[in-house]
Amino acid sequence: MTRPPRRPQRPQGGPRKRERKPLDPARRAAFDVLRAVSERDAYANLMLPALLRERGITGRDAAFATELTYGTCRVRGLLDTIIGAAAQRSPEAINPVLLDLLRLGSYQLLRTRVDAHAAVSTTVEQAAIEFDSARAGFVNGVLRTISGRDEQSWTAELAPDAAADPIGHAAFVHAHPRWIAQAFADALGAEAGELDAVLAADDERPQVHLAARPGTLTADELAAAVGGTVGRYSPYAVYLPGGDPGRLEPVQAGAALVQDEGSQLVARALTLAPVDDDTGRWLDLCAGPGGKTALLAALAVATGAQVIAVEQAPARAALVAENTRGLDVQVLTADGRDSGLPPGFDRVLVDAPCTGLGALRRRPEARWRRQPADVPMLAKLQRELLAAAIALTRPGGVVLYATCSPHLAETVGVVADALRRHPVTALDTRPLFASTDQLGDGPYVQLWPHRHGTDAMFAAALQVG
Ligand SMILES: C[S@@+](CC[C@H](N)C(=O)[O-])C[C@H]1O[C@@H](n2cnc3c(N)ncnc32)[C@H](O)[C@@H]1O
Repeated sequence: MTRPPRRPQRPQGGPRKRERKPLDPARRAAFDVLRAVSERDAYANLMLPALLRERGITGRDAAFATELTYGTCRVRGLLDTIIGAAAQRSPEAINPVLLDLLRLGSYQLLRTRVDAHAAVSTTVEQAAIEFDSARAGFVNGVLRTISGRDEQSWTAELAPDAAADPIGHAAFVHAHPRWIAQAFADALGAEAGELDAVLAADDERPQVHLAARPGTLTADELAAAVGGTVGRYSPYAVYLPGGDPGRLEPVQAGAALVQDEGSQLVARALTLAPVDDDTGRWLDLCAGPGGKTALLAALAVATGAQVIAVEQAPARAALVAENTRGLDVQVLTADGRDSGLPPGFDRVLVDAPCTGLGALRRRPEARWRRQPADVPMLAKLQRELLAAAIALTRPGGVVLYATCSPHLAETVGVVADALRRHPVTALDTRPLFASTDQLGDGPYVQLWPHRHGTDAMFAAALQVG
C-alpha cells in the first residue's frame, strides 16, 4: 500500500502565510488588456485576440475573456460611477491598478451570470497578490457593497433624472458619455425618440460582415462557402454567424473582405453617382487600410476605370496595397490636402478621418477615450480634405464625402461649409443607396446601427460645377 504524501512542513517561526490564488487565464487576460488600455491607450480589439493566441487560450475561456474585456471597456464610465458610490470616494482617488480590478469585478457582478462569490473572491485574491491585505480588504468591501444590489437599482439611484435630463439619463443607463448621446440625439433630429434604441444597439457586439469581391464571387456563393447569410442592403454583403473571419478560405484567398455593410454601400454609392462621360479616373483620397478602395477597384474592372488611392500614414498605405493586391490600384503615400496629383478626376471618395462615433460598437474603449475637443480639430481637417477633393474633380464629376461618425459638425457642418465656399451642388444621395430603407428626407444619407444594423456612416454626394 502506498502511503499518502506527507503534508509539507510549515516553515518555523510565525504563522503560515495563506497561499493566494492568482487570476485564472481568462480573467488574467481581461485584466492585462484593461491595464494596457488604461496605461498606454492600447486598443482592446487589437490586443486581446493577439494575447489569447499567444497564451493558447481557446474555447469557453477565450469567449469569457472576450466578454469580460470588451464588456468592461464598454461600460467603464458607468462602472466607475457605481464604484465611486460604493467606495464613497472619487474613482480618480483610487489606485489605477485597483480601479481596473474593481472594474473587472463589478462588471462580473452587474452584467454577467458569474457567481457573485467567485467574482468577488477572484478579484480580492488578485488585489492581495498585487498589493497587500489592507487593499484586498478595501476591494472586498467595495465589491460586497456593489453585489448587494443589481444594475437597475444602482442606476435608479445614480442616473440623472429622466424628466429633467432625458439625454443624460439615456446616456447613463446605456453607459455612454453624455456628449456622445447628445451628438446622436442632435443627428437624429426629429427622430430623437430613437436615442434609446441607438444607444442600446451601440452596446451590442456587432455581427461580422463580409464583402464578396465583385467579379470573383457572388454574395450567394460566399454565404454558402462560409455558412453565412446574404446581407439586407449591399449586393456583396454576407453576415457571419460567428467565428474568426480571418480563418475563412475566401478571406485568406482575397475573394472576400471583412467590411461593415455600411462601408460597402458607401463605396458602391460613388460608382452609382451620375457622372456624364466618365473617363475612368477615380480617386480615393483617404484610403487606409483600403477596404473601400478594394471594393471600388473591383467594381472599376467592369468599366476599365483606374483607381488612385492616397493615404498619409505609410503603414496604412502599405495595408491599402495589401488589400488591393491583384487589382488596378496605384497607391500614393501623401497628405490628401497636398497630394500633387493633377486634377480632372471623375469620381472622388473622401472617407475622412473622424471621431468614429458611428463605429463605437467595434472599438470597446473608444467612447471613453474620445473627447469633445477632438471634434473641431477633425472637422477642420475634414473641411480641408473635402476642399482638396473638390479641386481635384473635373466639372460634372462627383465627390462623395463620408464619415463613420454621425456628429453634425463632422457631417452636415463640413458639407455646408463646402457648399458655401466651393463650386458644388448637393445631389440627393439616397438613390445611390437604392436598396436601403429608412433614409429619411435627404438629401444626405445617415445610416444607423439600430435601423440598418450597420455602423452609423454618413454620406453626401456633391457635384462639381
Ligand atoms: C476613415 S479612414 C479611411 C478608411 C478607408 N476608406 C477604408 O474603408 O478602409 C481615414 C484615413 O485617412 C487617413 N488620413 C488622415 N489624414 C489624412 C490626410 N491628411 N491625407 C490623407 N489621408 C489621411 C488616416 O490615416 C486613415 O487611414
